[in-house]
Amino acid sequence: MKKQLIYGIVALVAVIAVVLTANNDTSFLQSKKAAFSQETKGLPDAVPPQTVELKDGDTYKLEAMIVKKEVGNRTVKMLGYNGSVPGPFLNVPQGATVTIEFKNSTDVETTLHSHGIRLDNRFDGVPDVTQKALAPGESFTYTINFPDAGVYWYHPHVREDYAQELGLYGNYIVEPTDPNYWSSVNREIPLVLDDILLDEKGIAPFSKTEATHALMGRFGNVMLVNGESEYRLEVKKGEVARLYFTNAANTRVFNLSIPGAKMKLVGGDTSKYERETFVDSVVLAPSERAVIEVLFDANTVLESVTPQGKRTLAEIAVSEDVASPSYKTAFETLRVNRDVIAQIDAFRSSFGKKADKRIALSIGQMSGGDMGMGGMSSNGGHMMPDGTMMGGMMATEPIEWEDSMGKANAESTSNNTQWIITDRDTGKRNMDIAWSFKQGEKVKIEIYNDPMSMHPMQHPIHFHGQRFLVLSRDGVKNTNLVWKDTVLVGAGERVEILLDVSNPGEWMAHCHIAEHLESGMMFGFTVKP
Ligand code: C2O
Ligand code: CU
Repeated sequence: MKKQLIYGIVALVAVIAVVLTANNDTSFLQSKKAAFSQETKGLPDAVPPQTVELKDGDTYKLEAMIVKKEVGNRTVKMLGYNGSVPGPFLNVPQGATVTIEFKNSTDVETTLHSHGIRLDNRFDGVPDVTQKALAPGESFTYTINFPDAGVYWYHPHVREDYAQELGLYGNYIVEPTDPNYWSSVNREIPLVLDDILLDEKGIAPFSKTEATHALMGRFGNVMLVNGESEYRLEVKKGEVARLYFTNAANTRVFNLSIPGAKMKLVGGDTSKYERETFVDSVVLAPSERAVIEVLFDANTVLESVTPQGKRTLAEIAVSEDVASPSYKTAFETLRVNRDVIAQIDAFRSSFGKKADKRIALSIGQMSGGDMGMGGMSSNGGHMMPDGTMMGGMMATEPIEWEDSMGKANAESTSNNTQWIITDRDTGKRNMDIAWSFKQGEKVKIEIYNDPMSMHPMQHPIHFHGQRFLVLSRDGVKNTNLVWKDTVLVGAGERVEILLDVSNPGEWMAHCHIAEHLESGMMFGFTVKP
């Protein structure tokens, strides 16, 4: 109740601020030079993504290129790794080291960032931190080691709002060394989720000099699964599949469900859960992954159901053919993962300590926007892929699931909007925060998403090169842990994480909403060996 009153006042102040600062900055749309080309003439057609098996010591060539592709009944210019959207699915054994000879053949500077992997810092692909951004035509060789099993992804670390939105993303599936790490299933299927914003002409344009949609991020109006707007999955009756979900969208949070099919949540960003659970839905924020096993019995769909409506992502057709062998018994058993529990045991004595670091998330100056509050409604709570429940006890919806601002969001830019991470103990902001840790430290970090800021909304906070546990959400302890690299912090929430500082180097932490990253929402930290 009190919270709603506060929100009301914030919204009122925001409206007044808008009246005072109204401006229109869509000039780039008029001036052709400042916008990225949308021309499709002469471009090669996108190809379907390949699945590539890589072994320890292999070298693989990856080229980011410009393609044309059918999306929502239109032919549009996109960007694809080796010509596909998503890029190739790269399967690698846990512990392997693979060399990727990467070439930028796009129309924007880029790098290859391997998200969630505790790799050698030199190959993290962060411009001005680990390497120079690659101009169109330039190449870089990345040597990547894969210490952890599970599902990871690669994407650029320059203008993600443009390049990732246009299709530069792909998965690494790291096959565990332990053959019993996962349960036996009939099939493993990676599903990369995205959305894309189409207007009458094609993909809504991008400025070359700044990111648009800086307030809420660029929400799409067409949903994509593995690059397809009409994705169809064909399975057999009784088939048990392990689905590896990645959210590659700029800003959209999905709340995944498969009506009529039983879903078992088995893994998160960088590990299995301590305990498997049956779930009705799973919230997946930008850059998060969820590993979900499903038993299929009848035709169904993959959908995202939120308080703001339902989005169908894929059709799932179940054939009359019966899957064999049947893994039904294994599927119906919920495993307790002693290996994960034992590994986390070494960290438990640090769970209760006082936070070592405290950061707050907020927005700085805003101009030219209607800052009305979107997405406010009561809710029954959401199952988060870090094992916690979000918002079960809040009167307000902590997530904005759809673009509630329209034109005001579209016209906000990385030049007139600043998103801020503040170190609450030093007062330093964004890149002025320069934490330094020693390898082996266990760092407890409190992340507070300020509900009094001008535009409170959720932020998926990502740490490079390390892994962490989500200890609590609004004071409620997490009782089913999983190793993570990204945590979604809802508006008004206070989340505690324990960072396992295991990997030396110069790293970044940032909000994974592409437009928020462009608007400054990042900081660096050093890990000394
Ligand atoms: Cu997936 Cu710094 O990002
Ligand atoms: Cu953000």
